[in-house]
Amino acid sequence: MDSLLEKIDHMSAEEIADDARHLMVGGGTPGPTLVSGKGIRVTDISGKTYIDCTSQSWALYLGYANEEIRETVHEHMKNFSHIHQGFHTRQRYALAGKLADIAPKNLNRVSFTVGGGPAIEASMKIAMKNRPTAKNFITLWDGYHGSGLTAAGGSWTPTLAPGSYTGQVNFLPNLNDHFIRVPNFNCYRCYFGQKCESCNLMCAEMMRLTMQKGVNGPVAGVILEPIQASGGQLPAPRKYLQRVREICDEFGALLIYDEIQTYCRIGEFFAATHYDVEPDVIVLGKALGGGFPIAAIIIRDGLKGFEMNGEELHTFANNSVSQVAALKQIEIIERDNLLENTRVVGGRIAASIRALQGKYPQIGDVRQVGLHIGVELIEPDSGAPLNAEQSKKFRSIAMSRGMIVGSGGYMKNLIKVKPPLITTPEEADEITAIFADTLAELFG
Ligand SMILES: Cc1ncc(COP(=O)(O)O)c(C=O)c1O
Repeated sequence: MDSLLEKIDHMSAEEIADDARHLMVGGGTPGPTLVSGKGIRVTDISGKTYIDCTSQSWALYLGYANEEIRETVHEHMKNFSHIHQGFHTRQRYALAGKLADIAPKNLNRVSFTVGGGPAIEASMKIAMKNRPTAKNFITLWDGYHGSGLTAAGGSWTPTLAPGSYTGQVNFLPNLNDHFIRVPNFNCYRCYFGQKCESCNLMCAEMMRLTMQKGVNGPVAGVILEPIQASGGQLPAPRKYLQRVREICDEFGALLIYDEIQTYCRIGEFFAATHYDVEPDVIVLGKALGGGFPIAAIIIRDGLKGFEMNGEELHTFANNSVSQVAALKQIEIIERDNLLENTRVVGGRIAASIRALQGKYPQIGDVRQVGLHIGVELIEPDSGAPLNAEQSKKFRSIAMSRGMIVGSGGYMKNLIKVKPPLITTPEEADEITAIFADTLAELFG
């Protein structure tokens, strides 16, 4: 008889269908059953191979099946894997030290946790410890910070659009409602009818006025993605972050950057460095662990941090396997100049897609920082967002042509091109060739 694991290699379609009856999946865009990957490519159960421009939830910077990560993890697992957070390990010290080393100068203390949403909540705890009387947080329209009952409360998903709610709407009675959402920086479709070059930062001023007049009591923190990812791949203008920093200082609120998607992907370790505007807390997750689950917060000197009194405790918050994978990934990124590669290859993809704008007026805007790339599709005559069905179709045509892209954004008209950071210039050209073929099939 096959062992349980041997069975995996030759499961029949009937066996899969039988087991599938026992599985629940609460979200994500449906895709094929995947069996293996190498580099930026992944192969499904039918043998079809795809270039993966989603890096699996944007979390595989070194692509699939990286040999060095595998060897590092394999070697380390001869020692142990799971360690309770009360016990120290050299791996945890080393990763905390390295993150403090690469983080902006005043951010020096790290707390690890199990995922992005819990890390956002850890950052909220730090804000509340340092602002003891404050219970409210400011987040931005179209921001996304996780799907737990607290992180989702500060995200846009529960109220996506009138009559078009996500499943999170089922939990409204218990979603944390200490969040006040204020207008985001949407320079392509400014809510105040301004042009980015000449705007007077009305979105930031709305935040200030909200803190002054729209919140009961002091604000503990402002949580924002410096480049809004799920909301539309929207990069903040530097002057916006500078102004928000001033506003937070004026009101004594902590500025918290959700860098769960920006870490390394933008061609710098941190968006805080890219923008040269320092927050009080940086939140990390997703790709931090080289494909293994781990998340973290890094906090500014002078803030009260966590104490060992049970205020922040998770069984798997000291996952040493993820910690060594995270360290190895940083080592490879530094050794192979992958941040530079990210900038170069990201620029190359964006330039090639922009070059298609003349032929395809449906390409409204190409927003790119490193390999954080979003393409907003529009109705050419009106400039309105392309209808969601057409945008969805883009994704399925690209899939049939061997490329997985993300789709979404707050108007559901955004194509996300966010392959691993190891993507080569030649692979970048393959990506844009499939992108062009997909446009041709969709729009003729
Ligand atoms: C910007 C951002 N913050 C937070 C999260 C939540 O992370 P997790 O899914 O690991 O809880 C995500 C996940 O997509 C994200 O993109």
